[in-house]
Amino acid sequence: MSTNAKVEVLGKSDNPAPADLSTAALSALYRIDEFEEIARSKLSEMAFAYYAGSAGDGRTLMRNRSAWEELSIWYRVMVDVSSRSTATTLFDKSMAFPLLSAPTALHKMAHPDGELATVRACGSAGIPMVVSSLSTTTIEEICAASTGPVYFQIYIGQDRGFVKELVQRVERAGCAGLQLTVDAPVWGLREREMKTGFRVPEHLTIANLQRTDHLGPTGHVGVGIAETLGWTITPSLKWQDLEWMVALTKLPVMLKGVCRADDAVTAVRHGARGIVVSNHGGRQLDGAPATAEALPRITEAVASRVPVIVDGGIRRGLDILRALALGATAVQVGRPILWGLSVAGEAGVRRVLEILSSDFDRSMALAGCSTVASITRDLLHPRG
Ligand code: FNR
Ligand code: LAC
Repeated sequence: MSTNAKVEVLGKSDNPAPADLSTAALSALYRIDEFEEIARSKLSEMAFAYYAGSAGDGRTLMRNRSAWEELSIWYRVMVDVSSRSTATTLFDKSMAFPLLSAPTALHKMAHPDGELATVRACGSAGIPMVVSSLSTTTIEEICAASTGPVYFQIYIGQDRGFVKELVQRVERAGCAGLQLTVDAPVWGLREREMKTGFRVPEHLTIANLQRTDHLGPTGHVGVGIAETLGWTITPSLKWQDLEWMVALTKLPVMLKGVCRADDAVTAVRHGARGIVVSNHGGRQLDGAPATAEALPRITEAVASRVPVIVDGGIRRGLDILRALALGATAVQVGRPILWGLSVAGEAGVRRVLEILSSDFDRSMALAGCSTVASITRDLLHPRG
């Protein structure tokens, strides 16, 4: 890197709020990848590396995307698609289209408005937000600013008493459900974080995990996620811990980070009310299957007993159609939201959601589907 470039990067991290893109400039963006390019130019090298990064060699990260792209859509013709609806429901709550904002940490590192910008944009798009337990805004503030369902993602950390209190707090705040993330017994190998010296920026806090009792580690010292946030997870989880969480709360508990059909079936047996097929956006076990490969096995095994959500590499409305054809109830996107937020806060996330929603609607029309229910498996594997 040249000296000038270094100065520029330092300048960027000193000033966490470079100007948002204008509305006119936003409306000229059509691809999620364009948002990523602009985000790269606005964020510090460390912040961009954390958001974009993966585990190991990034094989699963890349496969997540290419596996969707490889699925051809055998569209139907001569179907009246003049009147279409992209609407659907999850746990009896309506959604304008089958998308949730996936839980991702540290939104204030992308934009000073952080999670409040995200929840407002999700509310105006008519879709739920799943708040990361590592959010930089409290769950109470996020719920107060929301106009739609908010779910909370949770890790079971080393201190069960603290987790129990957090669940009660989330319930009181008015959340619609929990996603218990279980693909992180330890953190994945994040070389890019180590190379760029990832730290939680000093002006930010992991708002929901602040402790007052001084019984455990509260801070985040060190470099990389394993050192800074290692205390938020534990390698000792067992199926009984899912039962424990289910018994703690009236909220539906979904299990996030599942790739095997047998695990999905066991999860339902132990009380999971939903499955999130996910490999953490390729950030945990590199070499894990792409979620598009895992999804059909899981939807077949679960056989509609509970909703199945999928995330990883969804970048087009077309990918939402593909996931629904494989039996998913809805999909989640992680990085696309972070790119929208980095580019223009709430307006940036709104534009990302608009692109995905209009592309989904167009893809439905082109595939001969006028309702979400008509998006069926034969679109990928036609009979005859
Ligand atoms: C994540 N993800 C994640 N998952 C989770 O359960 N809790 C968390 O705090 C985070 N944090 C997080 C941070 C960042 C920067 C990324 C990119 C991802 C995983 C996330 O919920 C989701 O599974 C993936 O992001 C989906 O892949 P795409 O859409 O980013 O390709
Ligand atoms: C990550 C954690 C926070 O993927 O889930 O970085």
